[in-house]
Amino acid sequence: SVGALSACTSSGGNKAGMPSRTFGAPSSVSPSAGQKVVEASLTARPATLDLAGRQVSTWAYGEAAPGPLVRATAGDFLRVTLDNQLPADTTIHWHGIRLRNSADGVPGLTQDPVKPGAKYVYEFTAPDPGTYFFHPHVGVQLDRALYAPMVIDDPADPGRYDAEWIVVLDDWIDGTGTTPDDVLKKLIADGGTTSPGGMGGMGGMGGMDHGSMGGMSMGTPPWGDAGDVQYPLFLINGKPATDPDVLTATPGQKVRLRVINAASDTIFTVALGGHRMTITETDGHAVQPAEVDAFYIGMGERYDAIVTVKDGVFPLVARPFGKTSGGQAVALLRTGSGAAPDPGVTPAELSGQVLIGSQLQPAESSRLPNKSPDATVDLSLQGSMKPYQWGINGAPFGQNEPLTVKAGQRLRINATNMTMMTHPLHLHGHTFALPSGLRKDTVLMAPMQSFAIDLDADNAGDWMIHCHNIYHAEAGMMIALNYV
Ligand code: C2O
Ligand code: CU
Repeated sequence: SVGALSACTSSGGNKAGMPSRTFGAPSSVSPSAGQKVVEASLTARPATLDLAGRQVSTWAYGEAAPGPLVRATAGDFLRVTLDNQLPADTTIHWHGIRLRNSADGVPGLTQDPVKPGAKYVYEFTAPDPGTYFFHPHVGVQLDRALYAPMVIDDPADPGRYDAEWIVVLDDWIDGTGTTPDDVLKKLIADGGTTSPGGMGGMGGMGGMDHGSMGGMSMGTPPWGDAGDVQYPLFLINGKPATDPDVLTATPGQKVRLRVINAASDTIFTVALGGHRMTITETDGHAVQPAEVDAFYIGMGERYDAIVTVKDGVFPLVARPFGKTSGGQAVALLRTGSGAAPDPGVTPAELSGQVLIGSQLQPAESSRLPNKSPDATVDLSLQGSMKPYQWGINGAPFGQNEPLTVKAGQRLRINATNMTMMTHPLHLHGHTFALPSGLRKDTVLMAPMQSFAIDLDADNAGDWMIHCHNIYHAEAGMMIALNYV
């Protein structure tokens, strides 16, 4: 069958086939003359978090989830020391940053894993302004609380906003007696848990609109089944709906929302009650401003929006797509007086015009120069929930052939989703252009959808392309892109 893998791991893990290179100490690099250096330290460690009065034990950067914001200006030199106080190997991947390969944080591909008790220094230049985040690239550690936002400011930003709200979304499993590793084991043993009927449940084949990249559509979203795990809770900035994060602002102010989906297995619909939002960037790239009631955000995607805020108390709601438990994530925008809304609040905007991000149009400034591809490769997302097997181009990571590219080429990747689930496809170290020209580093692919993505091979190294459903990635839905 089309979705089947020709080779499968027995354990679902990719370790068997992981490249076994060793790297030693991080390769050193120095800031150039006049380059500003931004230093930070992050301790990955076991932590007890308070979720609306419930104490949960997990792993975090420091003492909170999300971990501390790392912020710099485009062109700055970052020097971030990771202190691994976890009882496990870890790394940090700087999601979306076009950084030098050796700082990309992929064990076995760009560095050795950082052992318990060890430190590792990440040094790199962050060339592009935008909204990013970081997380380990080891196993399913992202689904603990090991994630934090990263903002790269634009030195040329004309001050388009008065206030900023960084909004980090998460699906919460840990500290409930079940760790993400338990969840992965269970998925491999039993297959997915999303819908009682297995594949093609909620959403199914009906109402799909694959391939259409023009205009915005309303009505049934094209995602089909969009997650494997039922979560007990959803969080915004580490807080559940019953104890929401609050942004205060003054009526009439322009607020910039930087929304980051750090969840492992959940697509959300995001809406701000009482307001329409003007989407201005996605994954750090400017778009033609689009005013919407709500938008979908896949795992690993980022959307920036500008909102002129009204007077009152408004819920920012992130509703998990296709999940039947755990409620929703809610935060509050407070600009005036009023009672906080009920945690189950359903702003009308949620069912208004909901943007599918890949249908945004690029700003002229973020288009790739016109050029026809020098090389073309195919990338096929494959697999199934039962048995729980995911791969790319016929096999799980470690058994599939890396894609290759030569420096300087415009590479076209003909990407196809051969499965009945939605997958957020993420590329390291580069951004790609959709057929519309829209630049992204993470894009949702609906069931059976195909499109070509183009990238300029201007950042030599060995890079990952993978599904940002962290369970799919760990089960093998990854492939390397190597410069040759
Ligand atoms: Cu956030 Cu390899 O990904
Ligand atoms: Cu996936």
